[in-house]
Amino acid sequence: MNAPTQGKLLEQTLTTGIEEVIRRRRAIHSFVPGPNLSKEQWQKLFDLTALTPSSYNFQPWDFVVVEDVKKREELLPLCWNQKQVMDSVAVVAVLGDKNPHRRDDQILQQFVDGGYFNDEVKQTLKGSIDVVYPNEERRVEHAVCGASLAAMTMMLVADGMGLGTAPLIGFDPKGVAEYLKVPSDYMVVMMMCIGHPSHKELPRQPRRGYGDFVHWDAFGGKA
Ligand SMILES: Cc1cc2nc3c(=O)[nH]c(=O)nc-3n(C[C@H](O)[C@H](O)[C@H](O)COP(=O)(O)O)c2cc1C
Repeated sequence: MNAPTQGKLLEQTLTTGIEEVIRRRRAIHSFVPGPNLSKEQWQKLFDLTALTPSSYNFQPWDFVVVEDVKKREELLPLCWNQKQVMDSVAVVAVLGDKNPHRRDDQILQQFVDGGYFNDEVKQTLKGSIDVVYPNEERRVEHAVCGASLAAMTMMLVADGMGLGTAPLIGFDPKGVAEYLKVPSDYMVVMMMCIGHPSHKELPRQPRRGYGDFVHWDAFGGKA
């Protein structure tokens, strides 16, 4: 698919079936040059990413988008010189928020306003947050879990838009956080390169089989 055709596709509603997208999505190692995403395309990508589920609907994710070539050149060594940082059209730092509870009142009030529960339940739930997330370890888990689910949505949406993604764990979290001025409440969970895939990836690596990783009734249980 050439770049102009892609541009047209990007403006359309995503209609590709979910199974097709899941089967087609690959971690892209080879991007080709093409246009940057328009503001509308970024908005669509993130509007759909925002529909990712999260505990209490706390949405413990933020994203820092870097399109600027010079800035990406500076990020490159912090991303172990992985060339997708430069070959894609943007690299997005996917941040996990260790303290999304700062919005607890507002978010729980939305449930009350939406008719999910009353104010009494809201107060009970508010009190439960410190039980569910009692310490730094649990808050980090929540941040990583939420941001990772959002990253997965983002990869699927991008694929549906005719784009490719390269999720990267190979980066210096401290260095990237400093470079992007990420506040200490947040952690850089992964870097996500987005661009125009060359469609020249090697065949997908095999996955473990259903019988190997699905356990019934208890770990080790057979079907
Ligand atoms: C969280 C995460 C981090 C990854 N980090 C890297 C990375 O740093 N460099 C890289 O080349 N691939 C990275 N990958 C890509 C994986 O190697 C790839 O997803 C896996 O081999 C399966 O291939 P597929 O996504 O094409 O099905 C990462 C994938 C995920 C989900």
